[in-house]
Amino acid sequence: MATAPGSGSHGPMASPRVLRTQVGIIGAGPAGLLLARLLSRRGVDSVVVENRSRAYVEARVRAGVLEHATVELLEEAGVGERLHSEGLRHDGVHLQWPGERHRLDFVDLCGRSVWVYGQTEVVKDLIAARLAAGEPLLFDVRDTAVHDVTGDRPRITWTDADGTATELHCDAVAGCDGFHGVSRHAVPAGVRRTWERTYPYAWLGILADVAPSTDELIYAWHPDGFALHSLRSPTVSRLYVQVDPDERIEDWPDERIWEALARRLATPGWTLRAGPVREKGITPMRSVVTEPMRHGRLFLAGDSAHIVPPTGAKGLNLAAADAWLLAEALAAALVDGDERLLDGYGERALRRVWRATHFSWWMTSMLHPATGPGADAFDRELQLAQLRYVTSSRAAAASLAENYTGLALDR
Ligand code: FAD
Ligand code: DHB
Repeated sequence: MATAPGSGSHGPMASPRVLRTQVGIIGAGPAGLLLARLLSRRGVDSVVVENRSRAYVEARVRAGVLEHATVELLEEAGVGERLHSEGLRHDGVHLQWPGERHRLDFVDLCGRSVWVYGQTEVVKDLIAARLAAGEPLLFDVRDTAVHDVTGDRPRITWTDADGTATELHCDAVAGCDGFHGVSRHAVPAGVRRTWERTYPYAWLGILADVAPSTDELIYAWHPDGFALHSLRSPTVSRLYVQVDPDERIEDWPDERIWEALARRLATPGWTLRAGPVREKGITPMRSVVTEPMRHGRLFLAGDSAHIVPPTGAKGLNLAAADAWLLAEALAAALVDGDERLLDGYGERALRRVWRATHFSWWMTSMLHPATGPGADAFDRELQLAQLRYVTSSRAAAASLAENYTGLALDR
């Protein structure tokens, strides 16, 4: 990060502090942090700005399943060590409905596995690596804004934690600021196209200090609603239940959540261990895809451009894949002067995004019954027929396994 000559007076009426880098990155989530790390490994400088505190981003509980290719990418980024010592390799998942539980063996079906390692841990590892390398990562900034992205010298402006107005001049801006960020809005409404599907249910998720009652994830269809048993470690469980989107977390005391989980996950000869709930929250379920992912010198990556419902465990993995594609393209342009990969970035990224969008929609549609009065009995029978098919046909099971463990990055 270079400070431009003539800057340095930071009083309230003073001109802003001016910095210069190659890639300005907005957002220190998985997309922004991984992009910064991969760029650094390719000899490209960047500055990352984040409007939350380090403690907040490191504690924000979200995804937990890493695709095969995401694990390889984190290894390539030099942050695979703790993932391999503390993460858990999973070679399959269970699918169930009342009275039946079936295991899909991913290794047998498609030769790949997934890893269970929390997004919080991925983010901690990436932040630690960036700070250890002495590379700029600024937390607690305010009023982030993007300027001049259709010219040769785009800028990001913000106010630092200490109140200093700052302006960053760069060759490219990476909008990695998630679904509620500012970057997407820098693509003019007349240019932007959005596809959206809102699902009529939400997930209530808990993190509990209790040994998981399963060694592999259980995705359960139940007439009361979907349930998922996941985990974070041998002593920490992560579980979800389908609820109405307008449910309030205050109406779900811990006993009610455990009771719903026990009923929906019940299977003969198996019991669910309950324990203290450390964290709980409700997540709405949406699919959103925004195009284009490139506008001038602005490039969107991760949730800033697309979100998926969590059922397929794809959100974090898509953010990682975007970061890789964008790092390759920016390095080709800024190190070798070859812009072709940058020109194709949006199209390449969106191919994977739409595949994951379809898979996430399909898993969501198969596993979440309509509940309450007026629930459609025809839809439920279709869901059960699909579950029986996917657990009895090798071709159908292999298709699920291939999508769940993820496509190779170069496709
Ligand atoms: P984010 O992780 O959202 O990171 C964006 C960063 O930008 C944030 O740190 C944010 O603070 C920062 N930012 C925002 N605005 C600004 C600004 N103006 N200036 C500077 N910084 C800014 N996926 C799954 O696969 N499984 C799950 O169980 C799951 N659960 C989820 C639960 C919740 C509540 C949410 C919101 C998402 C969940 N996801 C899940 C999705 C997954 O976590 C995301 O896909 C993933 O975090 C995307 O990474 P990202 O870096 O693109 O965005
Ligand atoms: C987890 C989240 C998911 O969305 C999913 O499909 C599987 C696991 C988790 O948080 O562990």
